[in-house]
Parts: sequence; C-alpha cells; structure tokens
Amino acid sequence: MTSDGAMTMTDLLLLPGDGIGPEVTAEVRRVIAALTPDLVVEERPFGGISYDQSGSPLTDETLALAKASKAVLMGAVGGPKWAGVPRDKRPEAGLLALRAGMEVFANLRPALCFGPLADASSLKRELVEGLDFMIVRELTGGIYFGEPRFIEDLPGGGKRAVDTQVYTTAEIERVARVAFELARGRRNKVHSAEKSNVMDSGLLWREVVTDLHRREFADVELEHILADNAAMQIVKNPKQFDVMVTDNLFGDILSDAAAQLTGSLGMLPSAALGAPGKPGLYEPIHGSAPDIAGQGLANPLAAILSFEMALRWSLDRTAAADRLQAAVIKALEDGARTRDLGGRLSTVQMGDAVLAALA
Ligand code: IPM
Ligand code: MG
Repeated sequence: MTSDGAMTMTDLLLLPGDGIGPEVTAEVRRVIAALTPDLVVEERPFGGISYDQSGSPLTDETLALAKASKAVLMGAVGGPKWAGVPRDKRPEAGLLALRAGMEVFANLRPALCFGPLADASSLKRELVEGLDFMIVRELTGGIYFGEPRFIEDLPGGGKRAVDTQVYTTAEIERVARVAFELARGRRNKVHSAEKSNVMDSGLLWREVVTDLHRREFADVELEHILADNAAMQIVKNPKQFDVMVTDNLFGDILSDAAAQLTGSLGMLPSAALGAPGKPGLYEPIHGSAPDIAGQGLANPLAAILSFEMALRWSLDRTAAADRLQAAVIKALEDGARTRDLGGRLSTVQMGDAVLAALA
C-alpha cells in the first residue's frame, strides 16, 4: 500500500529459493537497479528455506502475491538438506504447486548457442554454432500431477508404486497453440514429440496436435516425432529443430539434453506462461547446485537471462530486454567466463561484467 492507500501492483516477485538461487538472484537485483530501477520488486522465501521458516515450501501468502504480480522470477529450489522431508512439503512440491497455482501451462525452454561459447559444448562446433531451438514443455499436467499416485505395501512383501500420466484435449491443445504461434515468429516449424507407439496419452496428443494444425495452423510445418528418437536427434543434428512441443515429463528430460548442447546449464533461462495477461513464471533451468552453493562460483547469466525473458514476455519492456541481451553477449565476447564456462570469474564478477557492458 502506498501512503494514499492505493495498492501498488508488484511488477516482479523474486523468489531466490535455495542453493545457488540467492546468489544468482542477487545479481538480477543489481541488473534491475541499473536497467529498470522503477520496477516494483518484492521478495519472499520459497522452497526449502520457506519450509524451514514456516513449515511450507510455498505459503498461501506467497502464492497469492505471485498471482497478483506481473511476473515471478525464481532462483532455484531444493537440496540434500530436505531429502527426508515428507514429499508434499519438499521444496520441489512448492515449485509444482507454484506452477499449478499460477496455471503456467507452457514452459518455453530455449537452447540458444551463444557464438562466443560454441567451443564449450560437448558437441562439435559445427553442430551447435548458431543453434536456436525452443522446447515448449507442457508444465501443469501429465504424470507430474496425475492421480492416483501412491506407494503401497504388498501382502507378500515388497511394495507397488503408481504414477498416472493423464492429458485432456484442452490441455494438449492450449500448449500446442503456444508452440505453433511461436513458430510463426521464428522458422515456422514445429516438432511434436510423444510416445504414441506405446501410450494412449501419446496417441491423443498426436491426434489433438494434428487436428489443431489442420484447423488453425496449416501454414506451419508440423512433424510428429517419437520422444526417444527426439532425444537421439537432439544430440545428432540439433539444428534441424525450431520449436518442439512435448509433455511435462518428456519436456523435463529433453530440455536438459538440449541445454547441454549450448555448453552450460548455467546459461539457460526459461519462461512459463499461462493464459494471455496472466503473470509468467521465469526460472533459470539449472537447479540449486548444492555442491557449489554459497561459494560465489555459480554463473548468474541464466537468472539474468530469465529476467530478460520476463522483461520481454510479461513486463512489456522490449527495449530494456534487447539492451540486456546485448550486454550479456558483449560480456561473453569480452571473455567473461565463470567456472562452468571454463573461466575463473565469480558470480559477482560475472554480474560486474554484465553491468559494465550495460553502461
Ligand atoms: C525442472 C526441474 C523440476 C522439474 C524439479 C526441480 C521439480 O527438474 O524444472 O526441469 O522436474 O520440473
Ligand atoms: Mg528438469
């Protein structure tokens, strides 16, 4: 509330979270101060640290604030400290509850190979140089949320565990629509990945995507691909891809593979979007990296580029986003490298490099 009693709309809710999350989001705060100091920013504990403080990885108050903000930027959640916590209170459960609560069903995970980093990839330079590939991962359905799910004891000893993969026409259609629309602004090609050869949910996925394509997106090139073949093609010839749409679990796995093509997980941002006008959720795709947390070694660029996506997709600040992207590329061209990129810069020094390039 401001002094005259009017509610101030939060532009950006920062959820630094656990592990390296606080270190990388601190660099985002410095970028905000330099680039968009007028943004209204709030911050809340999230994940393991929230569980430690309040017994819940995502409090009702934090979720309500997330839904009332224009964008949410998360650092990372989880770590060995919370391995013994009941599953519904785990930091990861907080993240799933945030995604579901914000209804951000389409997760955009770019695999973009920055020119100066082509040699940091585990693939040959010619396979990855110029790579610009976007995975659209369904984020609020499928086996991550399907019921029933349980582990039960069997009478004769041993146990039985059940997870449920479930998709409806509407869930598939809305995420496929995001992929087709994105492709129109890019190279106009969509691959839809599923396992229709063994799974009923895969069969429905293929049917719904085919149907939507025929009705609304016949101008976009569509190819169906089995998810296992997609994994193979991603490491064999990644530049054949423009946009790939896939379900929650396949998207989790395929996006890690695609990310590694670019040299470092420490480089990649993501955006999770819901219905038009609703707040987006932005996260670096690296995890909490407990092995290096607190040491100032983490690469803050994925978090900084996640903020760049937030400027573009939720905050309507395209010019600032362009400036920030150019600054990151310039810092890399000037040789700025954290350890994951084969260099020696600390988290703060990489932040310094981006700020210098911005200035
Ligand atoms: C990701 C992560 C999460 C997921 C975990 C932390 C729950 O792996 O964002 O890819 O599986 O979705
Ligand atoms: Mg993952």
